[in-house]
Amino acid sequence: MQTYNRQGDRASKSSLPYSREDWKRGYLSQTQESAYWIDDIEGEIPPELTGTLFRVGPGLLNIGDYPINHPFDGDGMACAIAFKDGRAFFQNRFVRTQGFLEEQKAGKPLYRGVFGTQKPGGWLANLFDLRLKNIANTNIIYWGGKLLALWEAAEPHRLDPKTLETEGIDRLDGLLEEGGAFSAHPHIDPASQFDDGKPVLVNFAVKAGLSADITIYEFTPDGTLQRQHSHAIPGFAFLHDMAITPNYCVFFQNPVSLNPLPYLLGFRGAAECVKFDPSAPTNVILIPRDGSRDVKIIETEPCFVFHHANAWEEEGEVVVDSICYESFPQPDPDSDFREVDFSQIPEGQLWNFRVNLQENRVRHEVVEPRCCEFPVLHPSKVGRKNRYLFVGIAHPERGNAPLQGVMKVDRETGARQVWSFAPRGFGGEPTFVPRPGGTAEDDGWVLLLVYDAQTHRSKLAIFDARSIDAGPIAELKLKYHIPYGLHGNFTSEYFGG
Ligand code: FE2
Repeated sequence: MQTYNRQGDRASKSSLPYSREDWKRGYLSQTQESAYWIDDIEGEIPPELTGTLFRVGPGLLNIGDYPINHPFDGDGMACAIAFKDGRAFFQNRFVRTQGFLEEQKAGKPLYRGVFGTQKPGGWLANLFDLRLKNIANTNIIYWGGKLLALWEAAEPHRLDPKTLETEGIDRLDGLLEEGGAFSAHPHIDPASQFDDGKPVLVNFAVKAGLSADITIYEFTPDGTLQRQHSHAIPGFAFLHDMAITPNYCVFFQNPVSLNPLPYLLGFRGAAECVKFDPSAPTNVILIPRDGSRDVKIIETEPCFVFHHANAWEEEGEVVVDSICYESFPQPDPDSDFREVDFSQIPEGQLWNFRVNLQENRVRHEVVEPRCCEFPVLHPSKVGRKNRYLFVGIAHPERGNAPLQGVMKVDRETGARQVWSFAPRGFGGEPTFVPRPGGTAEDDGWVLLLVYDAQTHRSKLAIFDARSIDAGPIAELKLKYHIPYGLHGNFTSEYFGG
């Protein structure tokens, strides 16, 4: 019998709402690849729910006998859950990247990871080896008839949406050069003003160095490049995500510096050489989507952002909701990430920024202090003022902890709805799927993949988005666990068995 913990449960430091052993087991590798109809279901899958949820994340947390140093270094494993007529078909498959194939053959790491995974043999074995292993583990999206697994520092890998078989690196019809970056955070403008109100996919690429070159790409629904422009930005830039409005791509340039020496010398991964500078500002960078006007850079107080929730334009301001950290949430590079002391790392919180374009001034406030990450919303509200957000949350109302549930935030009334899978369930990024024919912004479903430590299996929880606090309307229990993942997307096309 599954028991749930309702909103209002509190946890003190002496009684954590989870056990570390449970949480760690969600970071065990999953070597099994499978494809099956899900038949272990509690509740009912809504019959109108049609389409495919694609997700990706690290599937391997070790290579042979060698543990990787950070989950972000794990080889990408794609999952798909396809829904049709009240049934669901699951599959998972590793992305056959060149590095994955080589290392599985060798049984050991042959490449260094950006987040500190080293080749065996100490620093001498890693000295000046600056090759990148494209691990295709960060996001997966179906666009222009292609299913693309994304990793921000190199090209997408194209997968067969029906089988998840890897078809190869995709340079987007020659748009990307060999090894060319393509961010893992594309955003879909549902009604682009530059394209007769049609949807476009907006993405970016960053070449980081002493200064940064940001290239913006926009693609029509058939995958054709519609716009492309590049901009040089002063200073080192660690840009993982952006937000879009009808007129702008919005970036937050975190106040970080890079000292590459320990990386070059083989002691540290590149991302471990990034240092937060609390004396420097965060720069809000506004790049006009049509490329016709100058880039605007406006300073605000130092903070760190991986993910933006949404942005819109209102009365001469660009308004941005983001998951914000007081500083770079970096675990101690010398300790195992599985033993991380959550209390020593800042938690993400939902912040609101108002960027005044006339006065070149930014105001901000904390919208939700509870530890949260991975915000999503109704796809028709991307770049527009939205009422609802759905976000992964920790169980305790304050302090840093693993994500164990989902929260619905009503930005208009301030109301919250919460569901937690504590103590033995652990979550990640929710996905919002609109109900076909629905008009209300919360008329749809929220899908959340949950690791259940009790059974050491994962399950997909389906919520009615109007009433998150009523708990899942269905739980689809998978045969095996899926290690904690990163991002994914839903397409209304069915790619099941
Ligand atoms: Fe991300």
